[in-house]
Order: sequence, then structure tokens, then C-alpha cells
Amino acid sequence: MRRRTGFLVIGSGIAGLSFALKAGNHGKVTVVTKKSSVESSTNYAQGGIATVMDVEHDSFESHIKDTLEAGAYLNDLDVVETVVREAPDRVKELIDIGVEFEKTENGSFDLAMEGGHHQRRILHVADLTGAAIERALVNACEKHPNVTIIENAMSIDLITTRKLRLSLEEDECLGAYIFDKKSGKISTYLANVTVLATGGCGQIYLYTTNPSISTGDGIAMAYRIGAKVRDLEFVQFHPTTLYDQERVAFLISEAVRGEGGILMTISNYEEFLESGEDDPEKFSFMKDYDERGSLATRDVVARAIDRELKKSGDRYVYLYLLHLDKEHVKERFPHIYNTCLKYGVDITKQPIPVVPAAHYMVGGVAVNKNGQVIRRDDPNHVINRLYAIGEVACTGLHGANRLASNSLLESVVFAHRSYLDSLKYLENPVEIPLEEMPLWDASKYKPIDEKVLLKHDFDEIRRLMWVYVGIVRSGLRLQRAIRRLNLLEEDISHYYWNYILNEDLIELRNVILVARLIVEASIQRKQNIGLFYNIDNEKREK
Ligand code: FAD
Ligand code: SIN
Repeated sequence: MRRRTGFLVIGSGIAGLSFALKAGNHGKVTVVTKKSSVESSTNYAQGGIATVMDVEHDSFESHIKDTLEAGAYLNDLDVVETVVREAPDRVKELIDIGVEFEKTENGSFDLAMEGGHHQRRILHVADLTGAAIERALVNACEKHPNVTIIENAMSIDLITTRKLRLSLEEDECLGAYIFDKKSGKISTYLANVTVLATGGCGQIYLYTTNPSISTGDGIAMAYRIGAKVRDLEFVQFHPTTLYDQERVAFLISEAVRGEGGILMTISNYEEFLESGEDDPEKFSFMKDYDERGSLATRDVVARAIDRELKKSGDRYVYLYLLHLDKEHVKERFPHIYNTCLKYGVDITKQPIPVVPAAHYMVGGVAVNKNGQVIRRDDPNHVINRLYAIGEVACTGLHGANRLASNSLLESVVFAHRSYLDSLKYLENPVEIPLEEMPLWDASKYKPIDEKVLLKHDFDEIRRLMWVYVGIVRSGLRLQRAIRRLNLLEEDISHYYWNYILNEDLIELRNVILVARLIVEASIQRKQNIGLFYNIDNEKREK
């Protein structure tokens, strides 16, 4: 089947829906999303959205400085300034559609603190900020007469003039092939503007805070049509996820440390109990790593925990909150309190066992300041009619490490900038008749008899990425990883080109490509900076 739409938005998280809502005022918007409309990383965001709202105590300059410091100054300064300065207007738009950020008794915003920030500037809705934003955006889009959200619709590949050999000079995106998970049918969508808003790729790792949708589809789709990708070696590991036997990697928000939570090894904790002292911070291993102690940036904290666990052979460290007011903890973090309780940890009575897990992809599809996707073969040019926004994109905001709560912010700012820029294509719509668009020929493919092999391949990739391409890397580990990934990629490619498509196969093809790109980028980087750490660089730098 062939369909035509004004704007094709791939992904229904904060980035895709923010774009869709605005573009809907100018034409028909089709949002395709591979699960239910709310299922996204956005929906699980806890901490909040960083914005300078309290101009008496905070300033744009301070937010800019914190973003640059966290990013080890590898950030694009112009992008940092733009995002920070445009932030309040974009956040006000979220409030206008019904997001009720928490307020104090005097009516001002209840601003939270997180690692790497020097001011309280995180707007939040208890510890369920993302769910509140996602709900408001889905509601607003559902009410919009020009916006249609199609669930269980999975984009397989983008269609471009180059791929169709219609033009070899200029490159234009014409839409995408969309797989309907229920019927197994594949439709061709033709659009004046296509927007990749597919989120991150945490599922490439065995332990991750990300939901199952985060398989790097957008990075892979963009790469396959010749888009430039960048900074993929910068994978952010969140330092604190709940340790339990099932390793669910449930996030314990950084805001918990912002409220005074303290990291201790098991032996730090025992010493603290024996000492009878009342200041737990004195016992934290974190003071040996950073003057900010437990509130250091994530890269520092995750590496410190990794180091301590390797030294001690322990399976987790503790996040200690027992010196904080119990009622405040329950009220401020109801979701964390209730979820930990389900896993047998009462955070008002015992310290929380925590471990790091893959959390956020700092790199991604390279875009310019308007979210347009840059060409790999010619970085001075873009692929026309194609935008990438949200976690899938790399705008240069984060540099070598993302400052906490800057991701939701980047998504709304870039959704807006892309929306404004994309309007130029409406004056000049795609002229190709719908009947001339290619159809996916499913007849030549065989049914897969052993789907279980796809699951095994996925498990193998996730495990090897965790072991060989984790928080601390080495040349030897990266070489091992690439050899194994190359073998797996051959097998997966054989499946892809010979068998009938299903969801697992589409994802697996993306996962293996993105995993390989992460390893290749890691091999290329010869300096330890921000999130990136290779012990061989350490030896060379000494
Ligand atoms: P997502 O919200 O992940 O949405 C991606 C969408 O794309 C989904 O709808 C998905 O189904 C769809 N999709 C993917 N592939 C396809 C495909 N092939 N075809 C069709 N649809 C597809 N950031 C902050 O700033 N503050 C926080 O407090 C915070 N907390 C976090 C807590 C957790 C547990 C996690 C996982 C992340 C957190 N982050 C936080 C990061 C932030 O939530 C994400 O970076 C951000 O939500 C990404 O938004 P997005 O719209 O780009 O992608
Ligand atoms: C958290 O709440 O710790 C997550 C914040 C983020 O990823 O920005």
C-alpha cells in the first residue's frame, strides 16, 4: 500500500510529539510509533527538565557553564547557548498543554538539584516527570484534527532520491517503509517532510534503564541512507540503578543525590555504622574521586563505582538516604519508594543497593542547528526534507557527556527549531506521483523457522557490548568486540535478505549496525574525555 502525508514523524516521545503538535497547524501529520503511543524513554524520565526559571538565583550563564563543564568543553557553544536561552519558552509551552510542574507553597517552581548543576533548576513532577509530559503531549496530539498517531507501526528504512536513483547530486528524503506489526504488511509513506524521533539505543547493552523500544533504529536508518553519525563512543551510563537479582536496572534518579543521597561502598557503610558518627558523607568513597562528592557528574560517579566494584569484588554500592527526612523522601520520590518496596527495599529504612547501567546515547545522527540531517559524504550539505530530533540526534549540545536533565530540554528546543525550518518544504512539495513510489516486494522472502536464533543473536550482542564496550574500555576488548560483531552481522544480514520480516529482525539489523558503529567510534578515539575511557589511552597519556 502507498500513502501520502504532509509530515511523517517516526517516534512518539517528547521530540516527535512536540514536533507533530506544531506541524499539525500547517498540514497533515502522521506519527508512526512502534509500540503504544506512550511507550518511550520519555515516559520513564524521572528527574525532570533543566531550565533557568528562577532568574534571581540562577542565570543562563550558569546553566551554559554547567553544560559545558559536564561536556568537557567538547560541546558546540552556539548550540549550548541557543538551547539554554530558548528553554524557558519551550517549557512554558509544555505548561500550556497541561504539564503541572511542581510548585512550592509560595507558588514558585519547586526546583530540584542534580549532579553537575550548580543551581537548583530542574522542573519536575514528583519523580514521574516524563510520564506527565508524555501524557500531556499524547492528549494534545489526539485532540488535534491534523495529527494521527499510528501505533505498532515500525519504520524499516528511509526512502531517498539517491536510493531510488532519481538524483545523484542533491539528496532528498521522500518518506519511509513502515511495517505494520499486527498484519505484517509493509506500506510506503511519501511525505514532504520526514522526522526521525526514534530515541536512543540503550537496549544494545545487557543492563539499561531504557525501555525495549530503544534499539537505535533511527541511527541505523539514517546511516544506511548516507547520513553522518557522530560521537557514538559517548555512551552515558547512569550511576544509580537498583541492584536486584533480576537486574531490572530500575532508575534511582540523580535527584535523589540532589536531595542529599550519599554513595558508599558496603565497607564504607559498615565503617559508618560502627563509628557512631552522624555525617555519612565523610564515609563516602566519592570524596576520593571528586570534590563534589556524591553530586559529581555521571561520568565521574559511574567510573568511580565501576572502580570500587572491581577493587572490592562487591556486586553493588549503597545509596544512603537514612539521614534524610523519611516523609520528605516518600513524598518527593513516590515512584522510586514504591518500586523499590516491590523489590524488597524500603528506602526509608535501608540503604539502596545500586549499580550503573547504560542510560543515554550522547552521539547520534549529526544535525545542524535546525535539526537537518547532515550528509556523510559531504558534511557541508544536508539531506533535504529530513530532520532528526531528540535522543536520536547529535546536535553538539552535550559534548562528551550530557548534563542531567538536559535531554528533555534539547528535545523540545530542537523539535521547535526543526518545525520552523521544515515549513519551507511546504511551499515546494514532493512532486513524485504516489503511484511511482516503490512497493516492498514481500513475495521473494521465506518464513523464518527458528525465530529463537534472532533472540540468541540479540542476547549475544547485548552481553558482549556490556562486557567489552562498557564504562571502561581497552584496545583488546574493543578488538574482541568488533570481531564478534562482524561475524554476527554476516548471519543477521543473511536473515534480513532471505526471510520474511518481523519486528525482531528489523531491530536486530539496527542493533548490530549501531553496536558496530559504537565500537568503531571507540577505536578511533585516542583521548580519554567525558564519558569515554580507554585504559590504553590512560597508559599513553601518563
Ligand atoms: P523516546 O522518548 O525514547 O521516544 C522514541 C519513540 O520512537 C518511541 O515512541 C518509540 O516507540 C519510537 N520508535 C523507535 N524506533 C522506531 C521505529 N523503527 N519505528 C517507529 N517508531 C519507533 N532526560 C532528562 O532530560 N531528564 C530526565 O529526568 C530523564 N530521565 C530519564 C529516565 C529514564 C529511565 C530514561 C530511560 C531516560 C531519561 N532521560 C531523562 C532521557 C530522556 O528521557 C530521553 O533522552 C528522551 O525522553 C528522549 O526522547 P525522544 O523523543 O528522543 O525518544
Ligand atoms: C535521572 O532522573 O537521574 C535521570 C535524569 C537524566 O537522565 O537526565
